[in-house]
Amino acid sequence: MLHTLTGPVVHGQGKGAAAGFPTANLRLLENAVLPPKGVYWTRVSLEGRSHLGVTNVGLRPTADDRDEITVETFLPDDHGDLYGKTIGLTFLRYLRETAFFPSMAALKEQIDRDAETARAWAARCPEADGFLTFSAEETRALSAQMAKGLTAGSVLVLRGDMGAGKSEFSRGVARGLGVTGPVPSPSFTILNVYDEGRLPLYHFDWYRVEDPEELYEIGAQEYLPGSGVTLVEWAERAEDLLPEKRTEVFIQPVTESTRLILVSPCRLSAGNLLLVDIKNPD
Ligand SMILES: Nc1ncnc2c1ncn2[C@@H]1O[C@H](COP(=O)(O)OP(=O)(O)O)[C@@H](O)[C@H]1O
Ligand SMILES: [Mg+2]
Repeated sequence: MLHTLTGPVVHGQGKGAAAGFPTANLRLLENAVLPPKGVYWTRVSLEGRSHLGVTNVGLRPTADDRDEITVETFLPDDHGDLYGKTIGLTFLRYLRETAFFPSMAALKEQIDRDAETARAWAARCPEADGFLTFSAEETRALSAQMAKGLTAGSVLVLRGDMGAGKSEFSRGVARGLGVTGPVPSPSFTILNVYDEGRLPLYHFDWYRVEDPEELYEIGAQEYLPGSGVTLVEWAERAEDLLPEKRTEVFIQPVTESTRLILVSPCRLSAGNLLLVDIKNPD
């Protein structure tokens, strides 16, 4: 379960620097576990401070004769000289596939767009943490671990497309709280309640909810927050029911079996428009 990649910054080919956007190349250990190839929004930790990063994992993004995998990070904001220093990279959001560009100018243009998308996410989730899991078991193990830190009144909103892994994540939370029986998806029941764990668990799935009124009728607001832990899948159906104090969990498939899981306390009021804007960043 990859969380942060750490290593010293080494000199790359200097092409980016020559074109006006120096990138930090991470020196990788032989056995380093890397995220799948792609371009990511990352948090760059350097000497106790954090910076916004756009990280390319893959072949160098300009045509050249070297074909080894590199982890190259563009830091759009001021950060001083990085060479020789140790940085930590936390992967937060997959932005796009890696691509080759005909010119440095074309690459620069794309990276500027990537940085804008990363900034929109950073504005929404300033205290985000990111985790990469390589199987459903790892996702369940991660959420089971997180469940240990949950308290009465915790509300977790699970976001991601169909098949992203929201229900797998929920299963892990249930296990972590001490639920031993099966944890089926509540897509038909809307709410499943578990009383056998350390705290009561309220597991919602609003996929089939057509009108938020249906949720008021079953008393859903009593669980938002409730006297235990509340999980909500498909909160998009009734965004206004969500309490402001909640944790947002964005689960994003990167490959068939890899998920990037962004966890962030919510800092904006329910039903904000920015969320809609960043749901489909292009
Ligand atoms: N790393 C992973 N984490 C979670 N699920 C994964 C992972 N890799 C593959 N999967 C598969 O993805 C599917 C996720 O399904 P589910 O949790 O029901 O999605 P959702 O509730 O978001 O619609 C499962 O079939 C699961 O086995
Ligand atoms: Mg589900």
